[in-house]
Amino acid sequence: MTADAPCPSVVAPRRPGPPLLQVKNLTRHFTVSGTRIDVLHDCTFDVARGEVVAIVGQSGSGKSTLLNVLGLLDKPSTGSYVFDGVETTPLREGRTSRLRGDGIGFVFQQFHLLERRSALANVGVPMVLGGVPVLSRRSRAKELLESVGLGHRLHSQPHQLSGGEQQRVALARALSREPALILADEPTGALDAASSTMIMDQLIDQARVRDAAVVVVTHDPKVAESADRVVELVEGRTR
Ligand SMILES: Nc1ncnc2c1ncn2[C@@H]1O[C@H](COP(=O)(O)OP(=O)(O)OP(=O)(O)O)[C@@H](O)[C@H]1O
Ligand SMILES: [Mg+2]
Repeated sequence: MTADAPCPSVVAPRRPGPPLLQVKNLTRHFTVSGTRIDVLHDCTFDVARGEVVAIVGQSGSGKSTLLNVLGLLDKPSTGSYVFDGVETTPLREGRTSRLRGDGIGFVFQQFHLLERRSALANVGVPMVLGGVPVLSRRSRAKELLESVGLGHRLHSQPHQLSGGEQQRVALARALSREPALILADEPTGALDAASSTMIMDQLIDQARVRDAAVVVVTHDPKVAESADRVVELVEGRTR
């Protein structure tokens, strides 16, 4: 970080911008061996650019299911999901995956890094998929790893990194295409308190400085407290 760069989470929340996501009366059910399982019953909420929203709820309440829909990895059974002004429910897979690749970054509890690949290579993956030329890719990946404090670990592979460091690589990867939306499913679930704070500070920084929308699923009250707003899922309904 340069001397002029704002400190993470010290920058005051801005007035939220227009909604980036608009979820309305969204439901999701699955059918397993002929039996219907209703997971999301009725979810309605918006998330604005520049806003950090925590999604909380008991285990099994449907948080990851909802996040998959927000990330365009899954479709609702009924209801509406508007992302960046586009109603996504009728879109075909090609358009959905372009929207996802261009606009959404993911961070998961278990990091999901490629083993036997360096931190640099891992951060470069979304840029390979986005067709970024190799030289720009490498310099951007280096810059991002430096920004999460891993400038000295560029060539380390996941098994040579601590959990907190692996999550910072995963975060750098999620940010590589400057997504308008960052989705994180229990990003601090496998980390100690200091690493959790560092990850949350970086996520909040994305909202404050870059005006990204950030949605974080969490069981951790400290993480929820640091969000601008909390959406609770109770038996598949938002509150
Ligand atoms: N593909 C699927 N097929 C059938 N059932 C599913 C599927 N995905 C999720 N479920 C069911 O939906 C419910 C909610 O799951 P989900 O993973 O969204 O919960 P969660 O709130 O993220 O829980 P946790 O806090 O434990 O991660 C669970 O009962 C789960 O078994
Ligand atoms: Mg989950």
